[in-house]
Amino acid sequence: MNVLVIGNGGREHAILTALKKSPKVDKLYCMKGNAGTAQIAENVNVDYMDAEAVKAFAFAHPEIDYYVVTPDDPLAVGIVDALESIGKRCFGPNKRAAIIESSKAYAKSLMKKYNIPTAEYEIFDDYEQALGYVRKKGAPIVLKADGLALGKGVLVCETLKRAEEGLKEIMLDKSFGSAGNVVVIEECMKGLKYAPGEEVSVLAFTDGKTIVPMITACDHKRALDGDKGLNTGGMGAFSPCPFWTEELEREVMQKIMVPTMNALNAEGRTFKGCLYFGLMRTDKGMRVVEYNSRFGDPETQAVLPMLKTDLMEIFEAVTDGRLSDIKIEWESGACVCVVLASGGYPLSYAKGKEITIGDIGDCTLYHAGTAVKDGKLVTNGGRVIGVSARAETLEEARKKAYAAAENIKWENIAYRKDIGLKYREG
Ligand code: AMP
Ligand code: GLY
Repeated sequence: MNVLVIGNGGREHAILTALKKSPKVDKLYCMKGNAGTAQIAENVNVDYMDAEAVKAFAFAHPEIDYYVVTPDDPLAVGIVDALESIGKRCFGPNKRAAIIESSKAYAKSLMKKYNIPTAEYEIFDDYEQALGYVRKKGAPIVLKADGLALGKGVLVCETLKRAEEGLKEIMLDKSFGSAGNVVVIEECMKGLKYAPGEEVSVLAFTDGKTIVPMITACDHKRALDGDKGLNTGGMGAFSPCPFWTEELEREVMQKIMVPTMNALNAEGRTFKGCLYFGLMRTDKGMRVVEYNSRFGDPETQAVLPMLKTDLMEIFEAVTDGRLSDIKIEWESGACVCVVLASGGYPLSYAKGKEITIGDIGDCTLYHAGTAVKDGKLVTNGGRVIGVSARAETLEEARKKAYAAAENIKWENIAYRKDIGLKYREG
């Protein structure tokens, strides 16, 4: 098979790397890709947000058998629908199902209707009413811009003053653009043992009939050590989550994962693809923080290296609705992915800095913001490279990843030093 993956990040490089191992796969393509994907796939320069351009490309390339649509924005605008309308086989939800991520208000109302545990909330499209509600509830309180905001449209406000400012930023100043026309205001959940609440990402394969969780992972959204600094697209991840137990898995399957799959079916929005559950362990049990309609980034860079089963086989089983027929197996041990970023990210940062890569042992590099310029590998984004290491224990994997990271250099490189240390006591 010839397979094309849509997207440009570390996650897409990790998916391509896993697909490359499949005996079923002949040639890989990436739309648009980066310098890393170019090493294992043919990068294709087509605007993947333009359904007509994607369809025209697919028509012109009948040799490509299968498309994997990964980022949230092409899913939200219906690129899977466009490809399926011309008979292409895809991995990824259609537009109707992708709404579970593209509208937080939709996701919250779905959870309310089907009794899926999540934080209490109200939805507003009127600033004065929203302000009245925030003042009534007081702090801490969580404000979420309804639409897609690159994972940055959520403000956890410790004080009423911050909440009032935040509401103005989202609804009046439109810091997240039209994503802030509607705001979801939520109760601030509290973790059982750690503050802020302990979070786990559970990615799951589903064909709408069966849902199979992958190995768990923990993300690191803040820019600086100790979960300080601004929110980012993710500064690192590790797998598995230290506080995860079989008991939690049963609870989450029964109360969250299966009910979500069934709820989407009942609403005529059958989800096929990777459904991501961002969960928090609270004093009231496991609750949903957010859904994503896709593989998480950087979690995928810590999860897929642990996958033993052929990823292409899983993708096809999801497309064909026979996921219950296959057994999905994982390596033992742990995986740590440290994201190396451009200094200044997530605010302004330089691009075009030359990257040198020394000894990385048996670690795997997943490129995100990289490019080749005048024959040299250079930085081309905020998050540049993910270094993933696998080992028998989390601590060993951590050591390996950081040893490799030290041998990767560019001017003003920045990365967190505490990936893999969270929740160590379970
Ligand atoms: P989201 O983009 O929805 O995942 O939110 C970003 C981050 O904000 C989450 O990873 C949590 O750390 C935090 N967060 C979101 N909603 C809540 C909530 N209701 N209570 C506490 N923290 C939250
Ligand atoms: N790691 C969180 C996300 O992919 O949105």
